[in-house]
Amino acid sequence: KKDTYIFGIETSCDETAAAIVKNGTEIVANVVSSQIESHKRFGGVVPEIASRHHVEQIIAVFQETLEQAGLTFKDMDAIAVTKGPGLVGALLIGVNAAKAIAFAHQLPLIGVHHIAGHIYANRLVKEMAFPLLSLVVSGGHTEIVYMAEHGSFKVIGETRDDAAGEAYDKVARTLHLPYPGGPHIDRLAAAGEDTYGLPRVRLEEGSYDFSFSGLKSAVINTVHNAQQRGEELVPENLAASFQASVVEVLTEKTIRAAKEYCVEQVLLAGGVAANEGLRASLEKAFSDMPATELVIPPLSLCTDNAAMIAAAGTILFEQGKKDGMDMNGHPGLDI
Ligand code: KG4
Ligand code: ZN
Repeated sequence: KKDTYIFGIETSCDETAAAIVKNGTEIVANVVSSQIESHKRFGGVVPEIASRHHVEQIIAVFQETLEQAGLTFKDMDAIAVTKGPGLVGALLIGVNAAKAIAFAHQLPLIGVHHIAGHIYANRLVKEMAFPLLSLVVSGGHTEIVYMAEHGSFKVIGETRDDAAGEAYDKVARTLHLPYPGGPHIDRLAAAGEDTYGLPRVRLEEGSYDFSFSGLKSAVINTVHNAQQRGEELVPENLAASFQASVVEVLTEKTIRAAKEYCVEQVLLAGGVAANEGLRASLEKAFSDMPATELVIPPLSLCTDNAAMIAAAGTILFEQGKKDGMDMNGHPGLDI
């Protein structure tokens, strides 16, 4: 059987990324140009600046990707690109670049859902075994997704307000830490203790949904109250208390879902999958469940990248699912 090479493109938020993946499982080249430095002074991603950076970076990122691989577009079988969800202006840069290349080289064009990409980052680490569950925790999403087979996604629970990463970033902002705040809270938390007694929000019994906005408000109130009373705040302990609440609820619901759905694997996905506290908690919890394999990608594959988009695109390519030249960017696309 002939090898399949898919060229992946990701521009949904603040990383301009391209990659080449062989047979859906092997990274041949992987280039990520981050814009974080440009957004830092605004404390978050500014959509207009993101689009502008994508335009400026994308050709160079493509060239570097081909150079890394020692391949050309002629060696590719298809172009896969994130079509949503994300910032619409940012998505359109990737989508239009993908169309141009697909047209120029007469290659199939494949639109990929960003979250499907995050989940398929795991296939670059370990072959998938079905049925499986994926805990997707990023800056824009928090959900538990059930997969009976390749390309089939059923959301069994999701956040009703803030995404986990969003809560991390907002709490970090309250503690005057730079954007993105997740890694800073993670580091502080490792040096602190869970002393602030913050709430664990579990919602109705049996629900796999999440809610993090109440927890975020509890942190903000704790900071304000301390300021008003002139009390000294211990940032390490506050970070540890916040993280303990997030990690406890995420772990608890993931374990319960894994048992209820009798899955072979649980895959961790999204930027918050880089969280040391979450990784350790899941590893510990799943060590008591030998029938279910826990897969956690390396940090570089947890945050936004295009290898994951190429990996997810490979399945669509094999299933003959293509998009037309009328493909658009979809900021609120459902999985
Ligand atoms: O998946 P991602 O790169 O972009 C989205 O699709 O949203 O996720 C970015 C999010 C940010 O909110 C960032 O603060 C969070 O992932 N993050 C972390 C850590 N590293 C990144 N959150 C907690 N702990 C970390 N170590
Ligand atoms: Zn993402």
